[in-house]
Formats: sequence, C-alpha cells, structure tokens
Amino acid sequence: MAGNWNRTYEHVEPQQVHLTWLSEGSAIRVQFVTTDKIDQAQLVYWPVHKKTKRNTEIITVSGDECTPFVDGGAAKRLMHIHSLKSNDLSKGTVYEYKVGSIHNGTTTVWSPVYQFHTPDTTPEFKFVAAADMGVVNAVSMPILKTIAKEQKYDFMTFMGDQAYDLADMNGTKGDEYMNFAQDVYARLPLMTTPGNHESAYNFSHYLNRFSHLPYQESASPSPLLYSLDYKSLHLVSISTEAFFEQDGTEVDQVHTLVNWLEQDLDKHQQKWVVVIGHRPLYCSPADDKDCTYKADTLRNGIVSKQDNKTRLTPGLEEVFVKHKIDLYLCGHRHNYERSYPMANNQALSKVYHNPPSFYQVISGNAGNFDGPDPVDEAAPRADWSAVLYRGYGFTTVEVAPEALELVHWESKQDGTIGREIDRVRLTKDA
Ligand SMILES: [Fe+2]
Repeated sequence: MAGNWNRTYEHVEPQQVHLTWLSEGSAIRVQFVTTDKIDQAQLVYWPVHKKTKRNTEIITVSGDECTPFVDGGAAKRLMHIHSLKSNDLSKGTVYEYKVGSIHNGTTTVWSPVYQFHTPDTTPEFKFVAAADMGVVNAVSMPILKTIAKEQKYDFMTFMGDQAYDLADMNGTKGDEYMNFAQDVYARLPLMTTPGNHESAYNFSHYLNRFSHLPYQESASPSPLLYSLDYKSLHLVSISTEAFFEQDGTEVDQVHTLVNWLEQDLDKHQQKWVVVIGHRPLYCSPADDKDCTYKADTLRNGIVSKQDNKTRLTPGLEEVFVKHKIDLYLCGHRHNYERSYPMANNQALSKVYHNPPSFYQVISGNAGNFDGPDPVDEAAPRADWSAVLYRGYGFTTVEVAPEALELVHWESKQDGTIGREIDRVRLTKDA
C-alpha cells in the first residue's frame, strides 16, 4: 500500500512547509510546495484546548495564491508554491494546523500537524536568531528543532545564507534544505533576510520561496524588504546584497532600500528597533575584505568606480543613527561578534544604558559546511569589538518594555546547548 501511495501522491504531497507572522502576530501566512499542479490548497487550523477539542473551532481556509516557479538552472525545474493566510487569530493561544493538497477533485493529501502559538497578553516575549546554516554540518539545527517544539520563543529571525545554496543543483538543494528545516520553520514563524548565497538568478528562489513574508503589509516592493511590529519591537529586514554586484542596478537598488527604510522607520511607534540584514557593518579581522571595503560600502554607501571616492548612494550607518535603531543583527562572518554602541568605526560607549548609537551582533555561526571563519580570539581588536567567539552557536533575544536582553549560546556537536557565551542587556529611558 505504501508503494502505491508514493507513486500516486508524491508529486502533490505538501513539502517545505513554513510560516511567517503578519503584523503583531495577528495572523499567519503558510507556504508549501508541490511538485505537480494541484486543484486547490487548504489550510486547516484549530486552537488546542487542554481537555477537549471543539470541532466547531476548526477553521478551513481554501483558495490559494499559487505561483508556478521555474528554477533558473539547465533543467528548468518547475515547482508550485502555495501560500495561504489564516483569519485573525486569538491571543495567547496554541494552535495546531496542517496544509493539504486537493488533487483529482476530491483527494486531499495532508502535511503533518504542527503547533505554533500566538503572542500572549504580557508585554514580554523572546525570539531566536541564527544565520549561515546549510544542510552539511548544520550544528545548531537539532537544537533549533527542540526549541521550536517548546513554545517558548515567538519567532525566528534567520539572517541569510540558509541553504548553500537554494538554487544549487537545479534548485534541489533548496528543496532539500527547506525539508530539512521544516520541523523548525513550520513551527516558529520565520522572519528571514537574504544573504549572498540567495542571490542566484536575481534572487528568484528567495523571492518565490519566501513570498509569504509581510512585505505587502510593509508598503515594500518585494520580500527583500519588510518590517513587523510585535509587542514593543519594530523588526526590520533589509537586503544588504543591494550594495553589491547587482548587474549595474545596485545604485538604484540602494536608493530604493534607503527610501523605504527611512519611511518605515519614520512611522513606527515601538520602543525597540532591531534591523536584520546579512552582512556586517563592522567585523574582525581588520584586514579581511568583508571588514574593510565591503563593510565600508554598507556603512557609507557605494563608491564611484571612476574616482574610487565619490559616494553614489547613502550608507546604512547614517540611517541607523538618525533613526536611533537599537540593534543591527546580522551574519555572513561565521563566528559571533558583539560591538559596543558605536558609529564612525569607534565605540561611543562601553555601557548599554541610553547608548548614543546602535550596537551590532554578528551571529553567523549556526553551522555550515565551511566551519568557523579563521579569526584569532586572543589577537588585539578594534576598540568597538566587545566580544569575539570562534565556535558554533545561536542567539536569543528577550524583548520587554524595560530592556532588550541578548544571549549567545554555544551549539554543541552532539545537538545540545552548551555554555552561555555572551549576555548583554540594553536599557533606555522612555
Ligand atoms: Fe554570506
């Protein structure tokens, strides 16, 4: 029977299930992939009650924003990407859901059932942050799978370079990674941002596979830029790749990014602003190209190739300082590094109370095929670098009206959480 099921349904089985938040965690949007075209996609969800499940609370959403997506590789592989939005959800509730493919008119093939929870009525919450993973040597993935089941964290930010690469091997590497990560991504709403390893075919894999991100709700032109309000946090996702090698369109792309970012940061009402992006504005060692001219380009803008001096675009640092963002969270460098509150290449404060500028955390050490970047933790570093850790790990952030508290945890090769590497508590007067 199993053989028959596989032959009949493998091409319509929901795969690569992942969800994202819409504003304030008021609703989810779920995405999944089928190899073949289906008649209709369905999302079915219900609140979990401790004692009884009341059938009247089972909600079915049908209809589908289905996008046929053709990979840019030689095989021109076709996949069907389905996106479904829930109705408004109740606060402080654990929900179960599944997605289904209706095939041949009446047959529905279902995904496994997954749980997620909506924001509760307290002002506090926690989220998880990681970057630079892939399928091979994904050291933090077992820990994230455990965390995703615990309902302690409200979402996950993933700061780029997910699959090494989504588009590789005619896009099958992306499928492999998204199925590998499904136990996390189907439970923890994913707020991600594009890395350099998502850039193939003009970011087409990222744009299609994550088209459920709340960019339309953010008045943004694409999933490369979006924001989310969540309790006292305003979370903003930007594409740092806009500054690099975009077939001559990078100047226009950076202007689009900065214009949107300024408008977005002008109108939010939240106490805390965290920006996520892939590449760092600062990093160690001081002589690496990521930390010299590339970081300078991000901070201060694209430089003219004619005179190697004239800035053709604004940079991110002046926007971050002007709009008083609190934390820039990124990856790309495969280690952990925390800065002091800083600007213009120097620390402006060694304390995190009412800091005069933002601070940056690189959390690009989730685990990847290449291992940690070769940096010497004991070598002298710039005055802005508070902590540098060369090892695997992931970050958690607790957001409360009084403080933004960030912790970096060691990920051990046996799939368990190791020691606490770093902890910093940011506070500011109203
Ligand atoms: Fe990267």
